[in-house]
Amino acid sequence: MPAPVAPFITEDALQSRIAELAKEIRADAGAEHLHLICVLKGAVLFLADLIREMTGTVTIDFMALSSYSGGTTSSGEVRLIKDLDYGLQDRHVVIVEDIVDTGLTLHYLQEILRARGPKSLRTACLLSKPSRRQIDVHVDYIGFTIEDRFVVGYGLDFSEQYRNLPYIGVYQG
Ligand code: IMP
Ligand code: MG
Repeated sequence: MPAPVAPFITEDALQSRIAELAKEIRADAGAEHLHLICVLKGAVLFLADLIREMTGTVTIDFMALSSYSGGTTSSGEVRLIKDLDYGLQDRHVVIVEDIVDTGLTLHYLQEILRARGPKSLRTACLLSKPSRRQIDVHVDYIGFTIEDRFVVGYGLDFSEQYRNLPYIGVYQG
């Protein structure tokens, strides 16, 4: 049984901020079709709630990357584990990511997706830990900026556990 984790960002706070992000993303895109790329596995809950708040036409696709070897520190090495089902040519693409920490994963992802010729490429991250950044990566939409703490829940894991929490908590070890 995983240890209990106290809420740090509550379910209500997550849901209302995500509704705001959905409005912002739609406002910037106008009537354009939006193609959202969810980064597995951490961003699945964020994606699911984000698209429910989004008006207009939306499609989704999934990609899996690995930068963590199962602990709480980044290996600095990014691997592509699952590629997209569809091409990005002429699409208005939004990357949907759980958290930007060192920025290495997102930087790698933006580079490879940009090379596929989308009409536009934007990035939405639920959380950002700016004090941990190792590379200057551009993020268009940030849900919450947080301190350097290891967080779990709402899709985020520690060794694959805690993803099912409906809120975000600080992992105490
Ligand atoms: P980055 O490449 O260091 O920016 O790491 C990004 C990835 O590391 C995220 O997509 C998460 O999967 C994972 N990660 C970074 N910080 C945390 C955290 O506090 N909790 C859980 N996963 C994290
Ligand atoms: Mg991730």
